[in-house]
Amino acid sequence: MSRLITISNRLPISLVRRDERYEYTPSAGGLATGLKSFHGQNDNLWIGWPGMEIGQEEDQREITDRMKKDKMHPVFLTESDIEDFYEGFSNKTLWPLFHYFNLFTDYSPYTWERYVEVNQKFADEIFKVARPDDVFWVHDYQLMLLPALIRERFPHATIGFFLHIPFPSYEMFRSLPWRRELLNGMLGADLIGFHTYDYVRHFLSAVKRILDVDHSLGRIKLGDRVIDVDSFPMGIDYKKFANSIHNPTTIREVVKFRNNFNHEKIILSIDRLDYSKGIYQRLEAYDTFLSDHPEYQKKVALITVVVPSRGNVDQYQKLKVQLDEAIGRINGKYSTPEWTAIHYYYRSLPFETLTALYYCADIALITPFRDGMNLIAKEYVATKTDQQGVLILSEMAGAAKELTEALFINPNDIQGISDALHDALNMPSEEQRTRMQEMQSKVERYDVKNWAELFIDRMYEARSLNTRRR
Ligand code: G6P
Repeated sequence: MSRLITISNRLPISLVRRDERYEYTPSAGGLATGLKSFHGQNDNLWIGWPGMEIGQEEDQREITDRMKKDKMHPVFLTESDIEDFYEGFSNKTLWPLFHYFNLFTDYSPYTWERYVEVNQKFADEIFKVARPDDVFWVHDYQLMLLPALIRERFPHATIGFFLHIPFPSYEMFRSLPWRRELLNGMLGADLIGFHTYDYVRHFLSAVKRILDVDHSLGRIKLGDRVIDVDSFPMGIDYKKFANSIHNPTTIREVVKFRNNFNHEKIILSIDRLDYSKGIYQRLEAYDTFLSDHPEYQKKVALITVVVPSRGNVDQYQKLKVQLDEAIGRINGKYSTPEWTAIHYYYRSLPFETLTALYYCADIALITPFRDGMNLIAKEYVATKTDQQGVLILSEMAGAAKELTEALFINPNDIQGISDALHDALNMPSEEQRTRMQEMQSKVERYDVKNWAELFIDRMYEARSLNTRRR
């Protein structure tokens, strides 16, 4: 029986060092939830980086042993791997370029070489534990070379690759000096998945124009193999969010928020600290809104949650300073002893607090410049069991393709965001319900478990197709 081997840059855990020992707890990320039932079966395995540098070989051995029983296999990255591969090529080159921040993109040949080396390091770890008949599912932009490296060693293996971020248009992608290598790396897979059809189109067009390889209806023929390319919009654990309001801790948090904000409508903004999320211009739009509509001062409050991320990358550090400054400036301009215009949390929140916030928020304001999908939008929709609340969503988020009943904004249009806030605050309750119901049925129908099942089924199909061709 072939096993499913999942490979992602990060393992689905959070690792901490306590009393000279390393301890880890499972992290409840979307991918881990979607794969939970598969991961539990057979001898399936998850391979990835534990998330911090473990210098001592003795510690590495102990962690490797402990992880075996949880069906995980760690890839240990050195300090320089983290700097050059993770913070470097992954997050200073691929991340900005794929999110259309070409001016932030660093084209360093050195970090590219290190990206190649660390992809090889992942491959070497895979080969220590994998068998040629395993099914390999590789995730995301940090590991784009891995499908071809696995294919080289195991020519008949079944390999899937899913990109969790946008695949940019050819005009963006072509500016990478290593565009051929990256495409060839991905083409090692039998199935390549993206969140939306636009990303599929961009990828197929890059393959045609850069490698001169044709496709027909999303199927690429390459030598004796066929490679299927398709869109698989990722979902969330709908039930977990929809049922969260029955959790006693969440209920307590809801009561607290309601008491603290009993005269204000809550506008909620939650993101990882990232320039692609458009947090700064969202604050500007809120400023514009309060100045255009002074009658709403003291009647609304913006709760801004920013989750720390990639703190060693300079663009992220700069953004943090910008946000602190903007929030200080706006609060200085409008707040009074009785009212705070923006409540700011720079940390991640426990699940119960997060869902209580979703539940209480009258508006979720999600305005990324670019976003592969944006699961926050889906989580907000799923949690809103009373069907009262308005989602304001950037048309540049992958989620906009599915959540078509949201109020759409162009993230560069500050006045448009301010107007959308006004429209949302004045939306009749019945309209809120109709829109929310429509969105909920979509998010419920296509949850993260269905997403993973569908992708895995399609990998098996691709495998049988390629087996028949041999
Ligand atoms: C995005 C990427 C993921 C990444 C996550 C958190 O969602 O698609 O691959 O794991 O951000 O970023 P981090 O750099 O902390 O892993």
